[in-house]
Amino acid sequence: TVPGALTGQTVLITAGPTREPIDAVRFIANRSSGRMGFAVAAAAADAGAQVILIAGPTAQPTPPGVTRIDVETATDMHAATLSRAADSDLVIAAAAVADYRVARPADRKVRKADTPPSLELIPNPDIIRDVAEIVDGPFTVGFAAETHEVTDHARDKLTDKGLDMIAANQVGEGRGFEVSENTLEVLWRTGQQTIGPMPKERLGRALITLIGERFHATR
Ligand code: PMT
Repeated sequence: TVPGALTGQTVLITAGPTREPIDAVRFIANRSSGRMGFAVAAAAADAGAQVILIAGPTAQPTPPGVTRIDVETATDMHAATLSRAADSDLVIAAAAVADYRVARPADRKVRKADTPPSLELIPNPDIIRDVAEIVDGPFTVGFAAETHEVTDHARDKLTDKGLDMIAANQVGEGRGFEVSENTLEVLWRTGQQTIGPMPKERLGRALITLIGERFHATR
């Protein structure tokens, strides 16, 4: 086999935002377009992997050869991912998952009142952390979206969540989310490599090449 290729491997990828309902018509979400994660999914399929893409709400088209499972909330994404993770060889978490959800979403539209309502938030499960805890589980790759001290915060997440690799990107005004180009600082326990800036489609291919190398070096 070609070094770095993912031929014969099953790869689970999360992508896009999650939506956390406030009431029947409103939700909390974020700026993820799904573009980065979908590019990684397309690249993994091109590298010969069997790809399952667990996607939050996005307008992205499904890449050829990829099996797509649509979800809305972090809780749904967690269930869809954890039920398939043990049977996967690699799990790559590119989704921008809400850290919190509304404690008691209303099943009707909340009516405007004289006093503004307040929302009680409770923590969501951490999907990639739970995947990394599976004994003899898949090779895990997280992303880190940071506005400052990108490398330090990403290395903390790599260690704290027990991941094999992490791809960090700077986010903020016109960077990371939504835009077509991106730069990734990829970290693992014994090394690091910067890829980009380049269009997310090319970046996805370069990231998959690097992930393939590290995966084959450690398994
Ligand atoms: O979708 P685009 O518009 O193309 O933008 C791409 C991107 C900026 C969303 C993407 O490159 C990116 O950085 N994705 C991860 C965003 C994020 O939520 O990062 P984080 O640093 O908050 O989370 C760290 C890691 O834990 C991520 O792999 C995340 O998927 C995972 N996580 C976080 C919370 C949670 N409850 N479960 C998780 O699995």
